[in-house]
Amino acid sequence: MSSEPQPALSTDPLANKQQAWSALFSEPMSQLVQRYTASVGFDQRLWRADIAGSLAHAAMLQAQGVIGAGDLADIRRGLGQIAQEIENGSFVWKLELEDVHLNIEARLTALVGDAGKRLHTGRSRNDQVATDVRLWLRGEIDTLALLLAGMQRALVELAAAHADTVMPGYTHMQVAQPVSFAHHLLAYVEMFARDAERLADVRRRTNRLPLGAAALAGTSYPLDRESVARTLGFEGVCQNSLDAVSDRDFALEFSAFAAICMVHVSRLAEEIVLWMSQNFGFIDLADRYCTGSSIMPQKRNPDVAELARGKSGRVVGHLMGLLTLMKGQPLTYNKDNQEDKEPLFDTVDTLADTLRIMAEMVGGITVKKEAMERAALKGYATATDLADYLVKKGLPFRDAHEAVAHAVKIALQRGVDLAELSLAELQALQPRIEADVAAVLTLRGSLAARSVLGGTAPVQVLAQVARHRARLAG
Ligand code: ARG
Repeated sequence: MSSEPQPALSTDPLANKQQAWSALFSEPMSQLVQRYTASVGFDQRLWRADIAGSLAHAAMLQAQGVIGAGDLADIRRGLGQIAQEIENGSFVWKLELEDVHLNIEARLTALVGDAGKRLHTGRSRNDQVATDVRLWLRGEIDTLALLLAGMQRALVELAAAHADTVMPGYTHMQVAQPVSFAHHLLAYVEMFARDAERLADVRRRTNRLPLGAAALAGTSYPLDRESVARTLGFEGVCQNSLDAVSDRDFALEFSAFAAICMVHVSRLAEEIVLWMSQNFGFIDLADRYCTGSSIMPQKRNPDVAELARGKSGRVVGHLMGLLTLMKGQPLTYNKDNQEDKEPLFDTVDTLADTLRIMAEMVGGITVKKEAMERAALKGYATATDLADYLVKKGLPFRDAHEAVAHAVKIALQRGVDLAELSLAELQALQPRIEADVAAVLTLRGSLAARSVLGGTAPVQVLAQVARHRARLAG
């Protein structure tokens, strides 16, 4: 996974002294409660967003005359040093300081004194964490958008070479009608294109600023929320302070997007596994995406595709987890919300890695054209073409359907394809059949005939390839 390495946490038995809210408390927190309630083990991943949010907040506080210019300078210097310490691994994360926010704030105060203590003016961890998660997620959304485009490009480029490669199209997993391999691949491009649209939509609603809502009710300091939003690149501010600190629907929407996208990946992965099996033999995968068996020497297993399929389970599970997390929460912030992070992080990591590896693997697919074509010839895939032919000769469709069913029955009994029945045999079934039927019963004839917009005819498919290439350029 691509998550950052997690530094060890230090635990200090006298730690309660360091807690930001400890003056009221007369007994220390037990180690178990400390461990149970702390989030720093995972939310330290938000540190960049946390520092960016603090810098924007501090600059606004100074511009509004709430803190002095000297304080702002100290805060900037301190946060700059903290960023360096975190990056070079020397920052000491402390469990007793609960979360990323208090860890950074405590270190800031240790470095610059009172200015560090002034930073939290007009702010609460409630609007702070909501801001951090949104900022962090926005960055991940932008990375995922690029990865989704890469996935689509890999499929489009493979498709570009196979507008004329015929395979059986299936319904009910039964051979239905011939389609091109390109057409089949482009179906997935459509799915991923819609995923990208959904993601762009999620981004708009994620990109609104909670900061300024403070604990829940807003604040009495003269904050300029619009300017903080501009500094941080938010498109607007959350308009209700209670909503701002408490709802996580942007995370739910993101998670729903990710679950749908992983389901699309999983369907593709499933087909890759099937196509690579001996029973289909439609494709081969590069060795680097397969593993062997410790007991069966002949095996080359498509593990990467299987895992992509399997990992859809956890992403779908995270969506259920987040929905359930939100469901019973009264307004406003509740500590429950701390539980949004691990599922969200794992969703991002799983989806990003899966899109990366699947795009790579698709680029390395070897297509076995002959096997695809042989399979398309087996299941009477051109039966509909024969019926359509008869309709063009004036027969009502239902009668044509029945005549062709008879033809298929005879062919089945003889163990041959429709195209192998003689003209005389066909004419005995339906006198309107003439010599020109031969062209209709070929796979390529069938493909070319489906030239409706969105159909499998090579001219249509190549037009789609061009459209996708233009859409995905740049
Ligand atoms: N670690 C907390 C979270 O992830 C930060 C907010 C804590 N706020 C509070 N009032 N305890 O939600």
